[in-house]
Amino acid sequence: MNLVIDLICQHRSIRQYRDEPITAQQLDAILNAAQAASSSSFLQANSVIRVTDPLLRAELAECAGQQAYVVSAAEFLVFCVDFHRHQAVVPEAKTGYTEQLLIGAIDGALMAQNALLAAESLGLGGVYIGGLRNQPLRVVELLGLPSEVFPLFGLCLGHPAQEPECKPRLPRALVVHENHYSEPFDHALLAAYDQTMAEYYRSRGSNQKQQTWSGQIRAILGKEARPFMQDALRAQGFLLK
Ligand SMILES: Cc1cc2nc3c(=O)[nH]c(=O)nc-3n(C[C@H](O)[C@H](O)[C@H](O)COP(=O)(O)O)c2cc1C
Repeated sequence: MNLVIDLICQHRSIRQYRDEPITAQQLDAILNAAQAASSSSFLQANSVIRVTDPLLRAELAECAGQQAYVVSAAEFLVFCVDFHRHQAVVPEAKTGYTEQLLIGAIDGALMAQNALLAAESLGLGGVYIGGLRNQPLRVVELLGLPSEVFPLFGLCLGHPAQEPECKPRLPRALVVHENHYSEPFDHALLAAYDQTMAEYYRSRGSNQKQQTWSGQIRAILGKEARPFMQDALRAQGFLLK
């Protein structure tokens, strides 16, 4: 339809990079794009930690479950929710609310997606690293995050050394509802999507496997989802009210 929409729809995560830096001008454009995102109540409740120290990268890669691309990416950015800065502006600020965590998580994701799209528009590629939340308080310690700052996810960026296929998304009718939530669930549509995904996993260029989307979701949601998260958030001053 147009170049922006084409770029957005061609997205796929890139996990292998050429050994080539991102220029200062490119990084500047990417961070400008990140900061241009909308911001709830214009609170700008986020910080980004650019990790350039290779040893620190290695420690973070380990926190994320040995994800090697955290080390090999040209740039690694950690997106955080940050209400610490507001305390400097308004010492009596009422913080610690669950709503504020949502604001920081939403706005942080918007910033990061702007950054990734900007990078992709420059011919770069990247992947988010939610794996950092395997050990959130270790990440807090490694990055020296003060109270009221919490790491949401990382973003690896670099020059692509792979060309993965785009991953098919759920059929629109299962995702977009008109006026009211559509029920009952359309199992036939899901079955067709499972076939599409099985074919994608079977025939893709690398890491082929026998899997459907339902099977994948069953495996993920059959396990606990980082049950330590509530305690970690509270330790950093979030989810208190
Ligand atoms: C917040 C977030 C965290 C993610 N964390 C990881 C991660 O830790 N490791 C990884 O390899 N991919 C991670 N991903 C990438 C997803 O696996 C990927 O986006 C999804 O499989 C769809 O594939 P695509 O991005 O190639 O379309 C993450 C994605 C998001 C949005």
